[in-house]
Amino acid sequence: MALTMSALQRKFEKVNEIIEKYGKKKSSLIAILQEIQEEYRYLPEEILTYVATAMDLSPATVFGVATFYAQFSLEPKGKYIIRVCDGTACHVRGSMPVYNAIRKKVGLKGDRKTTDDLNFTVETVSCLGACGLAPVVTINDKVYGQMTPEAIELILDQLMKEEDGQ
Ligand code: FES
Repeated sequence: MALTMSALQRKFEKVNEIIEKYGKKKSSLIAILQEIQEEYRYLPEEILTYVATAMDLSPATVFGVATFYAQFSLEPKGKYIIRVCDGTACHVRGSMPVYNAIRKKVGLKGDRKTTDDLNFTVETVSCLGACGLAPVVTINDKVYGQMTPEAIELILDQLMKEEDGQ
């Protein structure tokens, strides 16, 4: 059964609040999508469609903005976003063994970037601007320098323990 507009409005209450906060102007779209992404950790397709309807924009406009900017993700992301720098300095100092150790530890296989339990997303990035600390890994907004496969495993062990304890 299709949801009526008011049922949809209830379902997307948080999205409505965000749209109201910024106003239904096209120029607010990026700020609105940023805040929605903070809330949901990614931009689910049904929410983008809803935003288009609620803001009186075409879905093509909303999807266009959401796919144009690298900061937006249309795929679910993990609670912890782990970025391994693979810029030149980090690469020559062994970022790839660190990257592989992280993937193995969180159980990522093939081309998957996010674990099924949505706890971890593992990505590579180019230079994080902290080459003196190479190889560098960030977990959410924390920076870890001079990483080795052993060191990152200890950090992940600790994180996983905290997760289990919750
Ligand atoms: S190359 Fe990794 S921080 Fe610059």
